[in-house]
Amino acid sequence: MDSEMPDNYGGFGPSRQRSIYMDGLAGRLPRVPIVMDRLEAAAQAVLTPEAFDYVAGAAGGERTARHNVAEFDRWHLVPRMLRDVHERDTRVELFGSTFAAPLLFAPVGALEVVRPDGDLAVARASVATAVPMVASTLTTRSLEEIAAAMGTAPRWFQLYWGPDRDLNLSLVGRAEKAGFSALVVTLDTRIIGWRDRDLARGYLPFLGGIGLGNYFSDPVFRSRLARPPDEDLPAAVLRATQMIGDPTFGWDDVRFLTERTSLPVVVKGILHPQDAVQAMEAGANGLIVSNHGGRQVDGSVPALRALPKVMEEAGQRIPVLYDGGIRHGADIAKAIGLGARAVLFGRPYVWGLAVGGEDGVSAVAHNLIADFDLTLALCGLTRPSELTRDIVVPA
Ligand code: GLV
Repeated sequence: MDSEMPDNYGGFGPSRQRSIYMDGLAGRLPRVPIVMDRLEAAAQAVLTPEAFDYVAGAAGGERTARHNVAEFDRWHLVPRMLRDVHERDTRVELFGSTFAAPLLFAPVGALEVVRPDGDLAVARASVATAVPMVASTLTTRSLEEIAAAMGTAPRWFQLYWGPDRDLNLSLVGRAEKAGFSALVVTLDTRIIGWRDRDLARGYLPFLGGIGLGNYFSDPVFRSRLARPPDEDLPAAVLRATQMIGDPTFGWDDVRFLTERTSLPVVVKGILHPQDAVQAMEAGANGLIVSNHGGRQVDGSVPALRALPKVMEEAGQRIPVLYDGGIRHGADIAKAIGLGARAVLFGRPYVWGLAVGGEDGVSAVAHNLIADFDLTLALCGLTRPSELTRDIVVPA
């Protein structure tokens, strides 16, 4: 039956949908749950309570994390009828690389708590899906090991700017050399937020030495230690955790960085339109509207609410990306319709990692792209750039 399908029924969405239904006919159900709540529950069933809470949790009463998702209810799509959509292309180009869809794997640190080799599993899923990985500073594997697992596939590196400038620049130089094609500098985590769930368990993975591979492998970091990490792990862990954030990190440091790297600098954590202006003045090449998945300021404005105002300031000048609460193809469509060039998603792929390792991450990404492709087609559109502002209306 499959081969009888006319071509004009094609595209990524219909073909994935079809293969899932055909599997169902043969009695095989998706190994990685499709329904988001069930995916999260399946992940919870295999993770330690500490690991699950670390990923699922957010700041304070977790209102912002909930509002990030709920905010999508405030916008509706307006599908157009009977337009020719038989040839579609979900790909986008950003900073010289082409991605399968306007979608990236958000930086997530400490993936080792989810799977022993979580960093590499996500790296390989990124290659398999052509959804770029934004590798966190806080990976257990070094950025060079992640790059080696990715060949020539596009990848970005997320930087936490710490108090040691030489160390920051060393990490940047390593990322440039290892073929990362953009730097994502996180602005909102100069200090870590108050996270009820982690505090209740007294649990912070980094203190157990997890997610510190980029520090332990760094020559500048190692030069700051009396003895190497394999000889005195507690001292190295303590030192590394002091290197992650810097409360004095300011716009002049962003300027300093943009003047010293050959890579585009994309700043993550913009919510106020005036910060978008400051970021551009500091030389940023792109912005990510994000509240860190609600993990920093409980009560922060939902990221999607902030997007239109940031677009007014920056949208004509540099690419604006969106991060927060992406769970379905329609969410991607809404964020793109409101002006974002691409979106990042986090927790859903981490649940995929928990449930199915590399294949689980790929399955979640493929489902999201298929859903987006179908949403696009059903709205009468053939490519992300056709998602213009008039397609999205207030609820
Ligand atoms: C670190 O960035 C975290 O959100 O846990």
